[in-house]
Amino acid sequence: MRKKVTVVGGGFVGSATAQRIVDRELADVVLTDILDGPPAGKALDMMESGPITRTDSRATGIITASGDYSATAGSDVVVITAGFPRKPGMSRDDLLKANYDVVKGVVEQIVKHSPNCILVMVTNPLDAMAQAALKISGFPKHRVLGMAGVLDSARMSTFVAMECNVSVENVHSFVLGGHGDDMVPLPRYSTVAGIPLPDLLPKERIDEIVARTRKGGAEIVNLLKTGSAYYAPSAAAVEMVEAILKDKKKILPCAVYLDGEYGIKGLFVGVPVKLGAKGVEEIIQIKLTAEENAALQKSAASVKELVAVLGLRSNWMIDRSLHEEARQMKFGISIFPLVLFSLAFYAIPTYHILSHRDLQPALKVNIDSVCTLVGTFGILPCVALASLNRRLAALEKGSSLGKQS
Ligand SMILES: NC(=O)c1ccc[n+]([C@@H]2O[C@H](COP(=O)([O-])OP(=O)(O)OC[C@H]3O[C@@H](n4cnc5c(N)ncnc54)[C@H](O)[C@@H]3O)[C@@H](O)[C@H]2O)c1
Repeated sequence: MRKKVTVVGGGFVGSATAQRIVDRELADVVLTDILDGPPAGKALDMMESGPITRTDSRATGIITASGDYSATAGSDVVVITAGFPRKPGMSRDDLLKANYDVVKGVVEQIVKHSPNCILVMVTNPLDAMAQAALKISGFPKHRVLGMAGVLDSARMSTFVAMECNVSVENVHSFVLGGHGDDMVPLPRYSTVAGIPLPDLLPKERIDEIVARTRKGGAEIVNLLKTGSAYYAPSAAAVEMVEAILKDKKKILPCAVYLDGEYGIKGLFVGVPVKLGAKGVEEIIQIKLTAEENAALQKSAASVKELVAVLGLRSNWMIDRSLHEEARQMKFGISIFPLVLFSLAFYAIPTYHILSHRDLQPALKVNIDSVCTLVGTFGILPCVALASLNRRLAALEKGSSLGKQS
């Protein structure tokens, strides 16, 4: 059976993403939007290209304005591109809140219908929206990631290939950090046919490439006049989707929830990760110079500011994302013996009542009272112990995820 991908938001990025998935026959695609007509029209148009591009992937377009997401049920991967672009007079915080509301409504519905999916966030501001999606979904952290680094690295590779006049296939670029002006392109780790950039180009040329990469999105916006880039963003999102669907274990720079890696805790920031069927299967930690690390911390601080505007608390999120799996792992096993142990104390008084056994009255009252008391007060520590156990399971799970990552 073919895999299923839902693309939420049938605008420029969403429809290009859907088309690339269908063209490459990676999965059947459901394209959703709040607009009536365009998603269905675009999906049918994609299907009609199938006989020419030779793909049997099915595309379906649905309107979700009424809140009906049933057609998305059972998706393996969900790419979220829904949101508003920044309008004149709108502050960055206004945009942040408007898109948060969109992402909240979308993620709540997606989780209901595809509880096991992997969420790939595209909506801007990317890192904050990924953080919001983790909180709203309650998913474990390895099933929520954001697309930015693949795009930013592709932009850098394009400029390096243009500068060196070589095939883009020879170039490998490395960009870390948040998806903003203070992203962190790393020339030391960027190579042309394996040769590090500083060995190939003078510092001034590298600095220009770094600066152009940082402004890559704005350069396209200025040229387009309306809207923002979508060819490269959709290609980047699909590279991540493909790595997941085909369990490729591909190392790609993605926005992921860091829990101490790179000295950053409780935030989504772009770092290299291994992507496979489980989502984020490992966070790759590379050695940074003091200068590179300072740039990464500065970029993370910008993400933190946005997250603070939304009032997303990171500690709470760690608990919740781990809770889902911890609950399945330990809760069921630990609470029942404890509760049974306490309930057992009710057996003696119950036996006395049912059997009308004529014990010596004073003795009977004492035994029954003690047992009832122990049973009743036993339940309370049982519940406390069970909840402690649950918490321990969450921590245990956290450290094992930490080891994986
Ligand atoms: N992460 C990145 O690197 C990157 C790159 C490019 C664009 N983006 C972001 O991706 C988003 C989409 O960009 P675009 O160019 O496709 O914009 P667009 O305006 O063309 O498309 C957005 C679509 O979302 C739809 N939408 C709004 N609310 C919705 C909801 N609740 N449910 C479903 N659909 C809804 C709109 O009707 C519209 O069709 C923007 O936030 C943009 O900033 C991110």
